Amino acid sequence: MTDLPLALVTGASRGIGAAVAHQLAPTHRLLLGGRDADALAALAKELPGAQPWPVDLTDPASLERAAADIASLDVLVHSAGVARLGRIEEASAAAWRENFEVNTLAVVELTRLLLPALRTAHGHVVVINSGAGLNARPGWSPYAASKFAVRAFADALREEEPAIRVTSIYPGRTDTEMQQTIFKGEGREYDTTHLLKADSVATAVVTAVSATPDAHLTELMLKPR
Ligand SMILES: NC(=O)c1ccc[n+]([C@@H]2O[C@H](COP(=O)([O-])OP(=O)(O)OC[C@H]3O[C@@H](n4cnc5c(N)ncnc54)[C@H](OP(=O)(O)O)[C@@H]3O)[C@@H](O)[C@H]2O)c1
Repeated sequence: MTDLPLALVTGASRGIGAAVAHQLAPTHRLLLGGRDADALAALAKELPGAQPWPVDLTDPASLERAAADIASLDVLVHSAGVARLGRIEEASAAAWRENFEVNTLAVVELTRLLLPALRTAHGHVVVINSGAGLNARPGWSPYAASKFAVRAFADALREEEPAIRVTSIYPGRTDTEMQQTIFKGEGREYDTTHLLKADSVATAVVTAVSATPDAHLTELMLKPR
């Protein structure tokens, strides 16, 4: 087990991150990121070689402490995210700030702190972006802007750090708690008929991570069929 590569998955307490953790578990040791310590402990029990990595990504001091112990890292999956939506005339500065704190700045800072560990392992960074990171639709701009920004970050990281593979994944609407909240905000009854499964997004992550060493899957777009 100690020979297996090490992966850190943020947002592993539920949704897409939990699905990614399940799919990486057979081939990786895992650090499970999130704030819900109980959910992380329960998941760690299910997955051999996994341990909780509870940290609030928006707390720089905690983040620095938690990252300090990681000397070598093969895979970093940024799945933690929030979606605070709203039309420009009504979305508060706090909503904009929260999207940027979690979806952009936490991704930037955690990656920066772990760069030495990623360089050591010739590692792979996967950013779970969103269809909203490619198209800004009415009512979505506070979230979309944070995802456009993290796309720029991933593109620059790929150029600046040739030893590291960097993949941005752009899923469409996916069946998770985040999507339930979005439906509620749209005044619609929750219906998974036209949603991706979290497992399908996780399969895209595994596809990128398990690509042959000569190949670099830089961007993957997934839409519900
Ligand atoms: N669902 C969709 O339709 C969809 C579509 C495209 C892209 N995405 C993206 O996919 C990613 C995962 O979304 P999801 O649908 O799985 O969302 P989710 O079910 O709401 O889960 C969000 C995860 O992020 C973690 N998180 C949020 N704020 C955090 C913070 N301050 N510190 C640490 N962890 C934090 C949560 O952990 P705790 O609650 O334990 O803190 C949770 O594990 C996000 O980046 C999202 O933007 C989602």
